[in-house]
Amino acid sequence: MTKRIGILTSGGDCPGLNAAIRGVAKAAYERMENVEIIGVMDGFSGLINGQYRLMKQDEFSGILTLGGTILGTVRTPFKDMRKIGDDNVDKVASMVRNYESMKLDCLCTLGGNGTHKTANLLSEEGLNIIGLPKTIDNDIWGTDVTFGFHTAVDIATDVIDRIHTTAASHGRVMIVEVMGNKAGWLTLYAGIAGGADVVLIPEMPYDRGAVIEAVTKRAERGKAFSIIALAEGALRNDEAGMKRKEITKKLAGEGYRSVSDRLAHAIESATGAETRVVVPGHIQRGGSPSAYDRILATQFGVQAAELIYRKKFGCTVALQKSKLTQNPLKDVAGKTKLVAPADDMVRIAKNMGLCFGD
Ligand code: F6P
Repeated sequence: MTKRIGILTSGGDCPGLNAAIRGVAKAAYERMENVEIIGVMDGFSGLINGQYRLMKQDEFSGILTLGGTILGTVRTPFKDMRKIGDDNVDKVASMVRNYESMKLDCLCTLGGNGTHKTANLLSEEGLNIIGLPKTIDNDIWGTDVTFGFHTAVDIATDVIDRIHTTAASHGRVMIVEVMGNKAGWLTLYAGIAGGADVVLIPEMPYDRGAVIEAVTKRAERGKAFSIIALAEGALRNDEAGMKRKEITKKLAGEGYRSVSDRLAHAIESATGAETRVVVPGHIQRGGSPSAYDRILATQFGVQAAELIYRKKFGCTVALQKSKLTQNPLKDVAGKTKLVAPADDMVRIAKNMGLCFGD
């Protein structure tokens, strides 16, 4: 009997997606007889609109080191999945219908938090789903790490390293705005690896005065420059709890493009130190996965194929304490793994003298 496996990648891309696709495919061909793999294009959008094709086995070769995703990806918000739009399409019914017309035995969904919510919805609709957790934000519940994260840490660290030399030459304060709207893992890890002086993350609203004091104290100790690693979603303590949209509106009203710009202005006014903002942006999601992510994505792919072989569906693969495992989709969907202010890594950073603005 032929085993038909669907694969899609959804949400923001990250390094390691192709390595994971390759892992699922190679392990499936290896482990089972008569495997056919159907690539669903552009995430759930392709599943809704019936954009898919039978892949050739050799399409999974030579993609281990390739960034992005060979299947394409689109953000299809979970909150809209049950809504019927102007096109009059029932998205959930279409996804179920297309799954059936593809005659799939299961569908692997590679994605982040939003993807896991839709994956769980489809699982509750009776489809056989296996999730693979990817995101540079590392904020998926139930896994110690997601693929894409460590490559992004490497990239953001390299940015901080390069900023260090120019900051030191000019005696400037440099703010590196790292990706992460809700989760500060990337900023925290890159901040530690890059030797930042201040780390500001969404989970720990900061006091502007404390940041200015940290910069001033360094200057008094003879360090004319300071590096601030700031997550794009970091908030001041007087703004804690405000919605992203409200903040963006407030900033625009004050004439700033971002929280980084506003903080730079505040530091410069208070200390007189020239302050610049650097935004690496999507560079953090681009290019080839690191060796660590190639391995992790391969492990997750192989684990997914193993679950297909064992007919264990409705779950997402995970790494816990260095061991491969899986969590039920219903346990993962709707939860986010954030940095707890009491997290060991925060303690380590504080013991190294890093300022969190608290
Ligand atoms: O979820 C990953 C992430 O990279 C966030 O850190 C970032 O805020 C967001 O995606 C930006 O995504 P995009 O510009 O692709 O919508």
